[in-house]
Amino acid sequence: MLDLHDYIESIPDFPEQGIVFRDITPLLADGDAYREATRQIVAYAKERQVNVIVGPESRGFLVGAPVANELGLGLIPARKPGKLPREVVSESYALEYGTASLEMHVDAIKPGDKVLITDDLLATGGTIEATIKLVEALGGEVVGLAFLIELSELHGRDRLAGYDILTLLEY
Ligand code: PRP
Ligand code: ADE
Repeated sequence: MLDLHDYIESIPDFPEQGIVFRDITPLLADGDAYREATRQIVAYAKERQVNVIVGPESRGFLVGAPVANELGLGLIPARKPGKLPREVVSESYALEYGTASLEMHVDAIKPGDKVLITDDLLATGGTIEATIKLVEALGGEVVGLAFLIELSELHGRDRLAGYDILTLLEY
């Protein structure tokens, strides 16, 4: 039985002192591991009756795209500032290291859409909180949040109280 933990590398003091970086690239590089992670999120998306996937730039795309494709659903990217060419809604947030903003096109979500937000990793929850705000500002209903990894000591989950969360691995 494949254990997804075996496909995560932990790198101390990257990108700065005191951070243990959880690197998903070995998981992405292994076809069986990537497919198994996708399979688990696809099953969750079916249970939650999702009709669209939203992924924050950039690692959220890597998790969301194969899930959307497998389900025959669309993928909406929430992008870093200045990348989307039409009118956007925007949200700023703090990261485990630094600050950032995300944007979505104003017509990206239809009112009543049942949205699954995907990302590689839940740390402080700032990225996902901002993504939730964007989806809800456009009238979408966030019915699930799916991550490969949860860093439980950062308590991102507490910030996302009231939302249903799937995490495949915990550190
Ligand atoms: C990382 C990661 C998550 C986020 C988690 O993205 O992919 O999106 O941080 O942190 P949080 O829960 O504290 O918000 P990053 O902003 O480094 O961008 P990247 O995916 O482009 O590397
Ligand atoms: N994004 C935010 N914190 C992270 C961490 N510790 N490892 C990998 N990605 C991250």
